Amino acid sequence: MKLYSNPASPFARKCRIIARELNLTGVVEEVNVDTRAMPDEVRRLNPLGKIPILALNDGSTILDSRVICEYLNERGGGKFFPGMSLWRDVSGRWKALTLQALGDGICDAAVARTYESRRPPEQQSPATLERYNKAIASSLAVLGQAPFTKKITIGEIAVACALGYLDFRVPELSWRADHPKLRDWYENFAQYPSMKDTWPVALS
Ligand code: BEZ
Repeated sequence: MKLYSNPASPFARKCRIIARELNLTGVVEEVNVDTRAMPDEVRRLNPLGKIPILALNDGSTILDSRVICEYLNERGGGKFFPGMSLWRDVSGRWKALTLQALGDGICDAAVARTYESRRPPEQQSPATLERYNKAIASSLAVLGQAPFTKKITIGEIAVACALGYLDFRVPELSWRADHPKLRDWYENFAQYPSMKDTWPVALS
């Protein structure tokens, strides 16, 4: 199967980390896509014109990063998605998925902010930039109080990808000084080989 990806994308990074953690790199071929050009091949696979996309060998495709991660988790027999339980384990699956939503939401705001800040200065909207900055700051404040442990679910992976993307595209943000507990948790997780192997870089 092929994972259409981009080495800067925090959404694709979640999938790439899971593929590495579950030893699926032999069956998941990563195809780098220049998202500024967005080739027709990618648009045919995803009408939204977005990566990541997982193209299966039977010709079907899986979208978006959340679904791809869960598919890879199933394929690799992983434990990154806690089991479903409506009645007992409120702190399991729903907590992990909500944490993933928060991590992805930070990435949504940070990616949009990156594109907005690349526009010519006279076309940038300070109000829009402020809205993205607030979303990022408020989410970091929540994560800064969160009781992270050594347990890794899709939620922790999404948060780590979000923090890595902030370091990459918004390096002026002083989130480490403001949130030392989050910093300590992240510095440990950032040592995983799957994290080091997927460090964000700009596609040249
Ligand atoms: C970036 O260059 O920041 C980027 C590229 C692809 C997806 C998301 C972000």
